Amino acid sequence: MPLPLQGTFPPWLTGSLVRTGPAKFEVGSTTVNHWFDGLAMLHRFSFADGRVTYANRFLRSDSYCEAVVKGSLARGEFATDPCRTLFQRVAAVFSPHLTDNCNVNIDMFGGVPVALTETTLPVRFDAETLQTLGHYTASAEIGGMVSIAHPHHDAARGCRFSYVVEFGRKSHYRLFAIPDDGSPERIVAEMPVDRPAYMHSFAMTERYLVLTEFPLAVDPLRLMLAAAPFIRNYRWLPDRGLRFHVFDKDSGALVASRTADAAFGFHHVNAFEEGSDLLIDVITYDDAGIIDQLYLSHLRAGASVNATGRLTRYILSLDDSDPVEVVQLADEMIELPRIDYERCAGRAYRFVWGTGRTKGGDFIDSIVRIDLASRATRTWHTDGCYPGEPVFVSEPGAYEEGEGVLLSVVFDAMRGVSFLLVLDAHSLAEIARAECPHHIPFSFHGNYFPSH
Ligand SMILES: [Fe+2]
Repeated sequence: MPLPLQGTFPPWLTGSLVRTGPAKFEVGSTTVNHWFDGLAMLHRFSFADGRVTYANRFLRSDSYCEAVVKGSLARGEFATDPCRTLFQRVAAVFSPHLTDNCNVNIDMFGGVPVALTETTLPVRFDAETLQTLGHYTASAEIGGMVSIAHPHHDAARGCRFSYVVEFGRKSHYRLFAIPDDGSPERIVAEMPVDRPAYMHSFAMTERYLVLTEFPLAVDPLRLMLAAAPFIRNYRWLPDRGLRFHVFDKDSGALVASRTADAAFGFHHVNAFEEGSDLLIDVITYDDAGIIDQLYLSHLRAGASVNATGRLTRYILSLDDSDPVEVVQLADEMIELPRIDYERCAGRAYRFVWGTGRTKGGDFIDSIVRIDLASRATRTWHTDGCYPGEPVFVSEPGAYEEGEGVLLSVVFDAMRGVSFLLVLDAHSLAEIARAECPHHIPFSFHGNYFPSH
């Protein structure tokens, strides 16, 4: 569908922004419990010759197809589990029917576009038609049940890094690499763990991968036997603190483990090395209460949601076991952070963009740019508008970090419609927008794929 435009789209912006998010919260007479559990819809904005088109399509995952046939949810999701009865106490993560409702992020594995959720069942799709193409199957040795929707891309090594958790009598974290050329995945490192933590993302520097174990952890036996949806089996264990495990990317060796005071987070922003220190930037919360705020019952009651956290830097020394230094990098609270990833992933960097919440606001209602050098912030805000994740797109031939635009899908609550907003990434001045004739369900993450 071609969209009416305001302003002028940059002529160099030729490609597609593909996003995924929950879009169907009721199936038959059943309703999912949590925002993270809605059935996935893919969204694509394509840019060419100054024109913008929009398309969407439900991801035809097995979870989706089975739910349509059954007339109710069929597989256990993050916080909704239709399978639990007294006689079916086998957790969804241990059954052969893991959810493949990939509503969290979009990436490219071995040159193939994939939608991701937090299980080991990414779903491939056609970036042109948004047609579902089946699961992306990793090498059998990778194994695991739970994974991550935020892999890292290492351009120098020509691969992505991700991790899985294998639950069992002995559980393991397993870091692995996905080569860009489509060759088989390979295990990078493995670590036994008694009570695996819930981790939504991890950190990468030029030489290291860092697992940040938030103290929201699960007893695998409880996960197997307890009659509760996946995340309800996790317990907040602040005495564990926040543990960092640093692995060498090439040898897989565990280089260091360090502990800081307890905190929770979904998103790492970036991480880098400075001498023998590692600087790891994370959006943090005091505890895991943010998960409870995102239950649909809470959201539909119109309750205020403080879905923004602190931009926190953890400084770990690899030389000695000095206490981890903790620095709050900005007063502004943000979420859904993005950086100039191709230029700065794993390296020293300066700019963070994310969604913010203005004073007195009841939800994410602004886009924020934080300059880590000057600590200055800039904000885009329009009354009644709720922007999603601002995806940074670098201008071809850009000389410096942050030269480019931000793409964000914004819901205009006054008019009940959504639009794609293009901002100058430095000034946050509006460059253009493309208006949809309807609203677009709030999506979590996506990526921009340039045309070739
Ligand atoms: Fe995320």
